[in-house]
Amino acid sequence: KESKTQVVPVQSEGAQRLKISIYFATWWALNVIFNIYNKKVLNAFPYPWLTSTLSLACGSAMMLFSWATRLVEAPKTDLDFWKVLFPVAVAHTIGHVAATVSMSKVAVSFTHIIKSAEPAFSVLVSRFFLGETFPIPVYLSLLPIIGGCALAAVTELNFNMVGFMGAMISNLAFVFRNIFSKRGMKGKSVSGMNYYACLSIMSLVILTPFAIAMEGPQMWAAGWQKALAEVGPNVVWWIAAQSVFYHLYNQVSYMSLDQISPLTFSIGNTMKRISVIVSSIIIFHTPVRAVNALGAAIAILGTFLYSQAKA
Ligand code: 3PG
Repeated sequence: KESKTQVVPVQSEGAQRLKISIYFATWWALNVIFNIYNKKVLNAFPYPWLTSTLSLACGSAMMLFSWATRLVEAPKTDLDFWKVLFPVAVAHTIGHVAATVSMSKVAVSFTHIIKSAEPAFSVLVSRFFLGETFPIPVYLSLLPIIGGCALAAVTELNFNMVGFMGAMISNLAFVFRNIFSKRGMKGKSVSGMNYYACLSIMSLVILTPFAIAMEGPQMWAAGWQKALAEVGPNVVWWIAAQSVFYHLYNQVSYMSLDQISPLTFSIGNTMKRISVIVSSIIIFHTPVRAVNALGAAIAILGTFLYSQAKA
């Protein structure tokens, strides 16, 4: 990734803060819109392997168009770049499809409550796979994260094992994605926007055959007839919206990753989940029990304690 420190000195601290605030606000807003349309689509057309493929296809098409028309300068990449990107793309693909499968089975808010445990996965993977150790407060902060998520899961009114496991797999995959991309991008000069574009293209190539194998054209055609009969042509616009917003929120998040440390990024990501959880509960009238909300609040508080302990 481009060095973060290069940008800071040429801008005043105030201007830099303003820029980051704008990135964060845009990222969260785009993410909320994506989550709403994604769930509307999955309710009407429950084929998460196809919808996650379409999200990647839309982003890839948008970026290929931007490069072809020179709206965005295409990155200069070599075979080495794509080789290093491969494990990142595998992890991104698994994390993306697993989260979408999860959201097709449970409430958006539940998926995101479980996904707020991503820092705990990060610490455990770093500890057991990379042998990294952390100060005691970091480990202690995992207790409310894991405890809060467990409380939210056992008190979830519409618990579903596939939905739960999808969110857990997504957490694990995204931790590996972050580790691989940190390793792979050291010293490379591809901007956040183009890096995410390349990631989308490679993930699309990886995911397409699996989507065909898991669901396939016959299921899609039958489901499509049903969706059109029940919802009408609007479902086309919902699919377009979830695909465009999926690309845009990820693009903005990768652009902001260029400007900030991974730690600030993960705090931003947790705050993003709060906006998604709250807005999706309101929009979809998700039933929540007080003890369930308490579990979510403890888990999110835990991720803040984690970021403090890590800082
Ligand atoms: C996806 O479909 O990739 C997930 O919704 C991603 O979730 P996240 O970007 O909020 O981790």
